[in-house]
Amino acid sequence: MSNDIIINTDIEKSKISRHIYGHFAEHLGRGIYEGIWVGEDSPIPNTNGIRNDVLKALKQIKVPVLRWPGGCFADEYHWKDGVGPRENRKRMINTHWGGVVENNHFGTHEFMMLCEMLGCEPYICGNVGSGTVQEMSEWVEYMTFDGESPMANWRKENGREQPWKLKYFGVGNESWGCGGNMRPEYYADLYRRYQTFVRNYGDNRIYKIAGGANVDDYNWTEVVMKNAHWLMDGLSLHYYTIPGDFWLGKGSSTEFTDDEWTITMKKALYMDELIKKHGTIMDKYDPKKRIGLIIDEWGTWFDPEPGTNPGFLYQQNTIRDALVAAIHFNIFHNHADRVHMANIAQTINVLQAMILTEGEKMLLTPTYHVFDMFKVNQDAVALAVDNNFEEYQSKNEHLPKISISASKDGHNKVHINLACLDHLEGTEFSIELRGMNLDRATINGTILTADEKNAHNTFEHPDYVKPAIFDNYTIKNGKLSVKLPPMSVAVISVDEGEK
Ligand code: AHR
Repeated sequence: MSNDIIINTDIEKSKISRHIYGHFAEHLGRGIYEGIWVGEDSPIPNTNGIRNDVLKALKQIKVPVLRWPGGCFADEYHWKDGVGPRENRKRMINTHWGGVVENNHFGTHEFMMLCEMLGCEPYICGNVGSGTVQEMSEWVEYMTFDGESPMANWRKENGREQPWKLKYFGVGNESWGCGGNMRPEYYADLYRRYQTFVRNYGDNRIYKIAGGANVDDYNWTEVVMKNAHWLMDGLSLHYYTIPGDFWLGKGSSTEFTDDEWTITMKKALYMDELIKKHGTIMDKYDPKKRIGLIIDEWGTWFDPEPGTNPGFLYQQNTIRDALVAAIHFNIFHNHADRVHMANIAQTINVLQAMILTEGEKMLLTPTYHVFDMFKVNQDAVALAVDNNFEEYQSKNEHLPKISISASKDGHNKVHINLACLDHLEGTEFSIELRGMNLDRATINGTILTADEKNAHNTFEHPDYVKPAIFDNYTIKNGKLSVKLPPMSVAVISVDEGEK
């Protein structure tokens, strides 16, 4: 098999919504408290309680949308506990995550302020599992009604005169599990009922997201689509990359074998099959692909770091996580017609995080760097790629040696997104950019790689894994000839300039 890749720069597929680069931050462990919110009186430098270092880092990667307050937490969150003077807010137990006290200091106003500071869209997940229709309805009224109403008046009393713009609203989370252990038939009926009272006030238009399937529960997608597709704008899907077993041991984030590397790659690639199969069911009811598949929880899930509260889901993040992120983005780009949003779980200190903190210290993970490198694809148009690439074999697994996608942005720049999945041997290949003349093009590359498969950043060495300039390519016979090292993620941008 030849290692030739053709990028058809004149065959444009769907627009890659910037929301594919979305985030998820739950009231879980040190995700919100310490990770984002330190309070106005904290010695950690902050703006209105939000830590400055984290804010700056998140702005850099252009977070387009942020999902909150959960997760499982969302179905036990009662939003009224989190508004009004902070000193009066109810203290409750976070039963899902570590049994710690939740003081509700980070509530609706603080979340909306954070989104305004980041310049991102808020995506709020409402409580179906233990909340009432009235409670959900009043939350939307509180946030978006401009005028005289009990909730709008209360919002004003609490210091916010103007309503917020709120587009994305999820009706429950994992209703098949922590959100109520429902059957799809029952959830579909509840979805129909709850969403009726998620109102559009004034010119605010809500994009309603129904709770979707867990991994390969295709029956869930079938039943919910059949019974409610005309009432939703999006349907979620949750899939985590877990090299081991969810209950018996997921595997360590930093101590893993060659086989575990390969299994992790294989499991990350499984996202492609899930999108195709759930997408096929959605096509039956929504052939025009109006409804977005909203992959609002994805990422690696390993055993918690030894010595940490197991309910906090704190894990390290290595070059392996960077590969998982790149594989997912390439899959999402290639299915941008159906995947309208994705939210990595979770932004800070939880699961596959972008940022880890320890008191006032902060570090950026390899995953963060992939978000930074790949952000050029936000709102670009996916291009058709012909790829007959060799496979590589590791033990009994045959996996594609590389993962690839390409896009063209609003300035006609083409971005080639590459990952070499093999952690032992690199690869060489040529790329033909059909429809482009490389001789007069300006080419830039960035790479993220490492010498060991578990390379990661620590508070002592926060820049151990970081991006570098990538220039291991030449132009031969009008094609780009590229050499990628093992376990690497690279973005090559080609600018032909004015034609
Ligand atoms: O992200 C951690 C948890 O995983 C979320 O709270 C839940 O929705 C999922 O099971």
